[in-house]
Amino acid sequence: MPLKNNSLVYGSITKLLHWLMAVLIIGLIIIGLIMADMDTSPDKLKLIGNHKAIGIIVLFLAALRLVWKLRNQSPLMPNSLKQWQKKAATGAHLLLYFFMFAMPLSGWAMSSAAGYPVSVFGLFTMPDLIGPSQDLRGFFKEAHALMAWGLMATIALHAGAALLHHFIYKDNILRRMLPYGKLKDDSYAQSDTMAGC
Ligand code: HEM
Repeated sequence: MPLKNNSLVYGSITKLLHWLMAVLIIGLIIIGLIMADMDTSPDKLKLIGNHKAIGIIVLFLAALRLVWKLRNQSPLMPNSLKQWQKKAATGAHLLLYFFMFAMPLSGWAMSSAAGYPVSVFGLFTMPDLIGPSQDLRGFFKEAHALMAWGLMATIALHAGAALLHHFIYKDNILRRMLPYGKLKDDSYAQSDTMAGC
């Protein structure tokens, strides 16, 4: 497995970041929805603390991933894809990048506005992003919850499309992101410059 991406497959660094972040983000959504349903209790506060710490780790990973993506080529999309499908895939990837930053930043801003510290598992504490404000706390809380639904819809679309390619079109789209995925054949076009993430 190459370390860096090439025109056919993703490299091991991109794959590691992709699957690690997928697990963390889906975990954060599940923890977030559970928290939102709980009455205030020590258990809820503990869960919020863990949610915030993992969310900040996701923010650092998102920055690392963006830098890695900008310094790497992305595998080409197969010629069998229609133009609208390529545009839809690129749109979903852009939206995922947006949420990878907007979700942690809105959560961090919500905590800062509420005057609560954001500690990453007691290892270090993040500086306040904004000053205390009940209005901004309410705003970022709403934005965080609303964007979570947008993120869930985008993940469903993205994962649904990957599974459709794998099981129905039987092409290499999912295989090339799998940890030890072997490509089925070499039917990839080298001419198209619209790349995935
Ligand atoms: C990718 C990162 C993140 C995801 C996917 C995520 C997801 C969620 C979800 C789904 C909820 C439940 C929303 C609702 O239905 O009310 C939630 C709540 C919350 N999140 Fe996040 N979150 C992320 C990052 C963060 C970060 C970095 C912080 C703070 C540093 C944070 C702080 C909170 C807080 C305090 C709540 C509870 C709001 C309340 O009910 O009082 N989140 N999050």
